[in-house]
Order: sequence, then C-alpha cells, then structure tokens
Amino acid sequence: MTGQHDDWLGLKGRICVVTGAGGGIGAATAATLAAAGASVALLDKNAETCAAATGALVDKGATAVAIPCDTSDPASVAAACERLTAALGPCDVLVNNAGFLSPGALASLPLEAWNANIAVNLTGYFICAQIFGRAMLERRRGAMVHIASIAASQPQPWSGAYSVTKAGVAMLSRQLAVEWGPSGVRSNVVSPGLIRTPLSEAFYQHEETARRRAELVPVGRVGLPQDIADAVTWLASDRAAYVNGEEVIVDGGVTQTLMGLIPRPGFTSSETR
Ligand SMILES: NC(=O)c1ccc[n+]([C@@H]2O[C@H](COP(=O)([O-])OP(=O)(O)OC[C@H]3O[C@@H](n4cnc5c(N)ncnc54)[C@H](O)[C@@H]3O)[C@@H](O)[C@H]2O)c1
Repeated sequence: MTGQHDDWLGLKGRICVVTGAGGGIGAATAATLAAAGASVALLDKNAETCAAATGALVDKGATAVAIPCDTSDPASVAAACERLTAALGPCDVLVNNAGFLSPGALASLPLEAWNANIAVNLTGYFICAQIFGRAMLERRRGAMVHIASIAASQPQPWSGAYSVTKAGVAMLSRQLAVEWGPSGVRSNVVSPGLIRTPLSEAFYQHEETARRRAELVPVGRVGLPQDIADAVTWLASDRAAYVNGEEVIVDGGVTQTLMGLIPRPGFTSSETR
C-alpha cells in the first residue's frame, strides 16, 4: 500500500460482507478488501464456489469465512448475519453484489422470471441492507456499496427485467444514503460496464463477438473483475468518507459513446486523432 502509513484506506480490521462472492466480481472484491487488511465474510448460495474462494484467501493469510446464503431469503440472511457476528463481529461494510442475468423480451417474459429477477437482484439487496445494516446503525458507522450496472440507466432489448432491478438498486442506494447518512452509514453504487466473468462468459466464447465488444469500449478492452473491485474498495474505505448517494460508473467509457454513433457528413472519427 502506498501512502504515509500502511492503512491508507482505513480498512485494516474492518469486517466486510461480500454477497455473491463465490466468483466473478464478488470474489475479486473480497480478495481486494482482504488485501487491504479487512476481515471478510464471503456469502454465496453456491456453497462449493464460496468455500473455494474463501480457501484461496485463507491460504494467503487473510481472515476470511465462507457463509453459504441465499440473499433473497430473509431467514437465510438473518442466519448468515448471526454466523458473521459469532465468527468475526458486527458488520462494518456490506457489498451487495449477488445477482444473475436471465434475458427475456418483455412481451413474453413469464411472471415467474420477472419475480425471480426482482427477488434476487433488488429485494435481496434490500434484505441484506436491512439485516447487515442494523449493526451499522447501532454503532453509527458503516459503508454499503451496491453493484448495479450500466443497465440501470441504459435500456437494452432482452434485458427488461434485469435493467429494471438495477435501476431499483440505484434508487435503493440513494434512499439509504439520505435515511441512514445522518446515522453514520454511507451508501453508494458501482455500475459496471462490460466485465468478463462467469455471468457474461457466454458472450466471449465467440471470438468475433468478443472482439467487437472490446472495440466498442473507448479504453479498448473489456473490463476485469479487478476493475470493479478497486472502485468498490475505494467507496467502502475511509478515503470516500464524504461520498454518499453516488453512482460510480466503471465501464471504460462505453456509455459515453452514443453521440459518436450519429452519422454526420464530413466528420469521421479518425479526424479526432
Ligand atoms: N459481468 C458483467 O458484465 C456485469 C455487468 C454489470 C453488472 N454486473 C453485476 O455484477 C454482479 C456480479 O456479477 P458477476 O458478473 O460477477 O456474476 P457471477 O455470476 O460471476 O457471480 C455472481 C455470484 O452471485 C451468486 N448468487 C446468485 N444469486 C444468489 C443468491 N440468491 N444468493 C447468494 N448468492 C447468489 C452466484 O452463485 C455467483 O457466485 C451482479 O449483480 C451483476 O448483475 C455484472
């Protein structure tokens, strides 16, 4: 760690909960918080990947516990919170990340699929915020970072239910920021763009699609879980002590490209270089 002392982020010994930490963005976030000296609880409904991701951190000397949990089930989250408190202590940082993508056109999306999206991607975030937030409110300190998506503000065909849940996450976070800010609890959002993880891996199996995806991004590449983990770790840390109710978009600039797509005779993109 750079800086004048070895705990520049102020995360040493902080007790952090990361949901959906069995893989992808959640696993990278748990590892990054652990590298900053935090004690980390990895929650995932997949007990196997959860244990593997936790084992990898423990092997590196981190304080980490695996807690299998379904974030859409209040009883499961309450039990996870009890296990956390017994194993590590009360929660200082919650990273709401557990989510899934089930594409479907709104014209034909079955109600069960809609409800399943809302249950995990939105209601699960609320359940975790309420249950893990209790200790934060009691102790008047804490930080929450919710993983939304660029889909929260950009509609995309076939993503109707997913996008709506992510827009809900963005408002849930702002709502928490004003309700709980006065009690010392901050709430912010990180919205990833195109990130290569198990969730999105199918999109990158086709070489031409993978290349075209990378070309769309101004920084010239698809994102990595670490790109998101770094932003989350900053927002969770004392270095973001005055950041509350914000959305940090981590997408390599892809959401800034709309105007560049509009044809204008006499202007070409190469003229800007
Ligand atoms: N990958 C991307 O391009 C991308 C882009 C924008 C946003 N996101 C968001 O980032 C977050 C993480 O996605 P990822 O790409 O790392 O996905 P991932 O599938 O690699 O990881 C998600 C994890 O969440 C777990 N999970 C799912 N439902 C759960 C539940 N009910 N309870 C507990 N755990 C559950 C899964 O088992 C999995 O380990 C999600 O909220 C996703 O919507 C991802």
